[in-house]
Amino acid sequence: MPDHPHHAVRTPFVAGNWKLNLDRQGAVQLAAAVREHCEGAGLGVDVDLFPPAFYLDEVVRTCAGSPLLVGGQNCCEEASGAFTGETSAAMLADVGASEVLIGHSERRHVYGERDETLHAKVLQALDAGLAVMLCIGETIAEREAVQTEEVCGRQLSSALAGIAPERLTRLSIAYEPVWAIGTGLTASPDQAQAVHAYVRGLYAGLVGEDGAAAVRILYGGSVKPDNARDLLSQPDIDGALVGGASLKPELFLPIIDAGKS
Ligand code: PGA
Repeated sequence: MPDHPHHAVRTPFVAGNWKLNLDRQGAVQLAAAVREHCEGAGLGVDVDLFPPAFYLDEVVRTCAGSPLLVGGQNCCEEASGAFTGETSAAMLADVGASEVLIGHSERRHVYGERDETLHAKVLQALDAGLAVMLCIGETIAEREAVQTEEVCGRQLSSALAGIAPERLTRLSIAYEPVWAIGTGLTASPDQAQAVHAYVRGLYAGLVGEDGAAAVRILYGGSVKPDNARDLLSQPDIDGALVGGASLKPELFLPIIDAGKS
């Protein structure tokens, strides 16, 4: 990583969001391949896998005793009760997840999850002892209307409203422009860096300068081996949240390596 002072205090973080893909065997095989790659001493990159909830238990067992983290892709905004089809944050924690994605673009735009719901999900995750990776990002219409900062700011501040900074030490943020997810379009390193710097500044207003200097802000949206290094070398880009390319070791492992210096 270049000699930017903030990179020195933030361990790079590469995460794979498997979405609604793979079967049981494929999930275990992929986790095992990532595990093998990451077990070498001194990797210097935190790596997190987000399998489908149904395979979490097995992927957690495949990764046990390794440096890999495993998380859920979503959780319910309620703790328990009559919510058919949902998975609670406590259930994710119970099967060994250490983290949960909240506010992924597909949850917001395909399933219509609103800022208030996402705030409730963050609270559930924190109550269950999970780390949160909060996803934010603008649509193409919002970018064209020069609303990127406003949208990201609203998504960040509403999700975290009223939460004490001490509770957010295990929060990370994923900036994922909706127009770049699964489209093959990537924000340029400069475009992404500008939003990351803005988000870090906003976050400083919420939790203070120390918290903002420590928070990892990942970029997501068509990250591939050939663009990962340029993105990750930006001073405020601390990692990558990878969808499609996280399903294939030959694509995901080089992205993990791009997180190294
Ligand atoms: P993609 O997905 O890498 O396939 O664009 C990223 C994400 O949705 O997290």
